[in-house]
Amino acid sequence: MCQTRPEVSAFGPARSAPPCAAHGDTARHEALAGPPSDQSDQEKTVTGKPISASRVVLSQIMQPLDANVSGNVHGGVILRLMDEAGGVAATRHCRARTVTAAIDSFSFLSPVYVGNLVTVKASLNWVGHSSMEVGVHVEAEDLRTGEITHTASGYLAYVCLDADGRPRQVPALLPETDEDRRRMAEAEERQQARLKMRKRGG
Ligand SMILES: CC(C)(COP(=O)(O)OP(=O)(O)OC[C@H]1O[C@@H](n2cnc3c(N)ncnc32)[C@H](O)[C@@H]1OP(=O)(O)O)[C@@H](O)C(=O)NCCC(=O)NCCS
Repeated sequence: MCQTRPEVSAFGPARSAPPCAAHGDTARHEALAGPPSDQSDQEKTVTGKPISASRVVLSQIMQPLDANVSGNVHGGVILRLMDEAGGVAATRHCRARTVTAAIDSFSFLSPVYVGNLVTVKASLNWVGHSSMEVGVHVEAEDLRTGEITHTASGYLAYVCLDADGRPRQVPALLPETDEDRRRMAEAEERQQARLKMRKRGG
């Protein structure tokens, strides 16, 4: 059973699948977002949605099985949470199946330890026809001291799929602030770079 939930703290990781399978595991995403409804597809694609409508905050306590023998949490555990939060935001936006198309490179900026509360914030930056870029920010809280450290930030690209697994149009993304507009413009440039890299086989 998946114990992680958007916008609530969850205790106990779901460890049954590797990071990139989070959105291939459509049942989990559909459970969070509700099953795809072909009946209302048209209605959903004609109307835009603000970024705030799909923003996600997901928290999880780090357990011994998330870490190596020194108590340092594996990067893959953090990556999985990032992909999961990003997938929830993307699925919330399009209310249909999503798959992870790309994860941009990023660095782990500070260590995370067993017992830390990891919080992942994810929100859409940009949408194309069927693709979406989600920005993800991760921080870790030492619950005993209250110290919060920035673990990582990154960008992930998702593609919305119809019931037959073909790319499907997503609702427009409606910027609400100048900051939203700046993020959209920058995200569009990153998407062009991803597609160039994809052409080169990267
Ligand atoms: C992502 C995927 C659906 C794209 O399918 P495709 O048949 O190549 O589709 P298209 O070339 O028509 O592209 C569809 C959309 O995906 C986008 N896309 C494709 N590859 C991408 C990439 N590497 N990064 C970002 N966006 C990408 C395209 O730009 C297009 O967006 P648009 O509709 O907004 O213009 C397909 O490659 C796939 O299923 N990959 C595996 C996904 C997966 O299983 N992820 C989990 C891995 S563990």
